[in-house]
Amino acid sequence: MSVSVAPPEREDAAGAQPKVATPPPPSDDRRWRQVDVRIRRLGGRPDALIEVLHTVQEVFGYLDDDALTYVSEALGVPPSRVVGVATFYSHFLMKPQGLHTCVVCTGTACYINGARGILQKLRDTLGIDAGGTTPDGRVSLLSARCLGACSMAPAVVVDGDVHGKMTTAEMDHILETL
Ligand code: FES
Repeated sequence: MSVSVAPPEREDAAGAQPKVATPPPPSDDRRWRQVDVRIRRLGGRPDALIEVLHTVQEVFGYLDDDALTYVSEALGVPPSRVVGVATFYSHFLMKPQGLHTCVVCTGTACYINGARGILQKLRDTLGIDAGGTTPDGRVSLLSARCLGACSMAPAVVVDGDVHGKMTTAEMDHILETL
């Protein structure tokens, strides 16, 4: 029995990567060019899915339907898989976020050390649930399962800064500074 094996992709004589064709972007927003460049650099491979989603989120702040469709077409990954990956990881945001983000850890260590009370305090003060953004677009409230700061439980990340041993009073104070 003979088995044919596709030859590996080669760089051309100048050392350039093989050309990668990408679909037309969803709009003429120039930021798509950054995404396009990243896809080409990664070779347009299906296994670059997570890296490309990271790039789209870095560039646009979140992933919308148009972005997911574009990534699906550009990488040749079924739309269901792209949506599945984007919604599986809490890092990926499916809606535009507020000016400030507040992530409350609801993992076990934080939960038993008072995260529930802090989350409730934020819900009451901001008038939104986890996953929501205040109507004025000022603050987005998120929850996460373990932020990797269990020794500081309960932990809250505000605009990327980890605040440990959080109390409702301290949370109030932080909100006033936003
Ligand atoms: S459980 Fe909250 S940081 Fe780990």
